[in-house]
Amino acid sequence: MLDKLKEQPGDKIIALMALFAADRRKEKIDLGVGVYKNDQGKTPIMKAVSEAMSILNVKQESKSYVGLLGNMSFIDQMIRLVLKDSVPRDRILGGQAPGGTGALHQLLLLIRSLDTDSRVWISSPSWPNHAAILNHLGMNCLQYSYFDEETCEVDFDSMMNDLGYVKPGDVVLLHGCCHNPTGANLSKENWIELTNFFSQRDVLPLVDLAYQGFGDGIEEDVAGLQHMASNLPEICIAVSGSKNFGLYRERVGAAIVVISDKRQHKRTEDNLKSFNRLTFSFPPDYGASVVNLVLSDYDSDKIPLADLWKKELMEMRSRMLKLRVSLSDSLRRSTNSNRFDFVAKHRGMFSLLGLSPNEVLRLREEHGIYMVGDSRINLAGLNHNQLDNFSRAVATVI
Ligand code: LMR
Repeated sequence: MLDKLKEQPGDKIIALMALFAADRRKEKIDLGVGVYKNDQGKTPIMKAVSEAMSILNVKQESKSYVGLLGNMSFIDQMIRLVLKDSVPRDRILGGQAPGGTGALHQLLLLIRSLDTDSRVWISSPSWPNHAAILNHLGMNCLQYSYFDEETCEVDFDSMMNDLGYVKPGDVVLLHGCCHNPTGANLSKENWIELTNFFSQRDVLPLVDLAYQGFGDGIEEDVAGLQHMASNLPEICIAVSGSKNFGLYRERVGAAIVVISDKRQHKRTEDNLKSFNRLTFSFPPDYGASVVNLVLSDYDSDKIPLADLWKKELMEMRSRMLKLRVSLSDSLRRSTNSNRFDFVAKHRGMFSLLGLSPNEVLRLREEHGIYMVGDSRINLAGLNHNQLDNFSRAVATVI
């Protein structure tokens, strides 16, 4: 019977990981999957996280189930981290899910339960798994323009033009910060304009927030989102702890829902519980408990864990910002043009370089440089010593 299984379309990011692993060249460079790396090319466990793990290993007395929505103290911490006091607390609720992708999935189940014909608009381009999950869930996926290929900045006029076609009840998926794959982000003014627009159209924003703290700062990265949340009756937010806590494999995620009326609290929460029970039952606890400990007022001997985490996150962010400036300088020198100046303006781990599929292939085959086929690079995969080699390689293929 199982021989009738159909071929599944692969994910290009995951496929690239396998190609990179199989390449035997020593000098190969991995700019593929979105995993932060330090200057030594390592993804170490953050110190605040590792301290919290040690504390948890001693303090935790049982591995019995926690609850269908997971660790509620963790949820409370994530709500504070993302929304601060932008929305009255009794209008916000949330539940744990396995990673940001799990949170997105659960929020989509919630949305689909309202209307099986609901339409979800995603940016063009977007993280490839967005369209894939919508397709898997049998939901309608539409695209709005987002990226200007000439300037490599956000094309906000075209975005608003396309969103002019939304219907009441539609869902618009936005990237909270550090847009994946482009690296080009909405300005605060853009968030304000979108908020005004959504408020007139009865549209539900669904925000994918996977990189808080990787752009301009923990607070700065959610300023636009907080404005939207505080000015609209409803919003859904899928939060990931994979990148900013470096807990990729522990699958730390929170599905946050802002409701218009606190009396809907219990029903909305019951829905989230039910979708968790039906999908995976109880969410994984370990990573969430670690994050909870980091963000709580837990004082280690030397420095509060939350302060240590903020400092480490700041160092990661500064490294990426410095790399951006150096890489755009280096590309300017090797290509003798300002074509890649936008790299310094983008934020987060990614930039879409605007190379053709053939140029991307040549970089891989001739230079051992791995980037996603649409020419997305993960900047954190580079170290300062590799910048000039990388830029020279780009100059030879364009
Ligand atoms: C990426 O875009 O590379 C990351 O979000 C990792 C993933 O799961 O695709």
